[in-house]
Amino acid sequence: MSAVQVQHLSKIYNSVRNAGWRRFLSSRDPSREPFRALDNVSFSVQEGEFFGLLGPNGAGKTTLISLLAGLSHPTAGTASICGYDVATQYKQARRSLGVVPQELVYDPFFTVRETLRLQSGYFGIHRNDDWIDEILHNLGLTEKADANMRALSGGMKRRVLVAQALVHRPPVIILDEPTAGVDVDLRRSLWDFIVRLNKSGHTIMLTTHYLEEAEALCNRIALLKRGQIVALDTTQALMARVGGRDLEEAFVHIMHNGLQESVAS
Ligand SMILES: Nc1ncnc2c1ncn2[C@@H]1O[C@H](COP(=O)(O)OP(=O)(O)O)[C@@H](O)[C@H]1O
Ligand SMILES: [Mg+2]
Repeated sequence: MSAVQVQHLSKIYNSVRNAGWRRFLSSRDPSREPFRALDNVSFSVQEGEFFGLLGPNGAGKTTLISLLAGLSHPTAGTASICGYDVATQYKQARRSLGVVPQELVYDPFFTVRETLRLQSGYFGIHRNDDWIDEILHNLGLTEKADANMRALSGGMKRRVLVAQALVHRPPVIILDEPTAGVDVDLRRSLWDFIVRLNKSGHTIMLTTHYLEEAEALCNRIALLKRGQIVALDTTQALMARVGGRDLEEAFVHIMHNGLQESVAS
């Protein structure tokens, strides 16, 4: 069974289909033109994989993750987590998935521990403190357990986002640019932890602009460009196919020339 399966997924923002007043607005404001953020995307991630979803800003990575988390609805196509359809079996699908969002979102009035207890409660889990303590320890947050969220540094807040994604022990974990703007220490300790989770059987899907991270961590990589998958292969094969020395070179090459031309040349 696939950990993540995506079939013919498309997302059009500001679709003006059957909405008269929206059609009226979009005719006056070009920023309201329908925009195809995802275009017929299909792939699957097997259980236990460390999968990279890479692409430039605006490629559609966060849109894809929002669809997987059920935060947004596709214009066409289907997706499932551990075999559960994200639309028709939302509860089971959401329970199987932990998402670390790209944007820092938090409630300033709760402590770290309260935040994690609350998140456990959303999944109907009570008396979760043993697991919460273990997560806090692994993310270097033990000392901050009783600090208010607003009193944490940006990097600490990001650690809490990771902790929140893990409270319900999801088999699949998706991280949307988790290391953007965090210091070297946190990046290293975060990756140690994620690698351990992966080794203990969790499926990881990751977006990042740090290509050396992706090269070191991901066994397979999908490259997304303007809502379409332009390459999908093992990390080694992607680099070999374009003769790149490293993933960054392969990434730049494929984004500019595509895969077909580069194979031919
Ligand atoms: N809620 C929205 N309404 C309209 N357009 C959006 C919305 N969210 C994202 N987009 C557009 O969709 C495209 C893909 O965005 P996103 O999925 O955030 O890309 P990425 O995460 O790869 O940087 C971008 O052009 C973005 O401006
Ligand atoms: Mg994004």
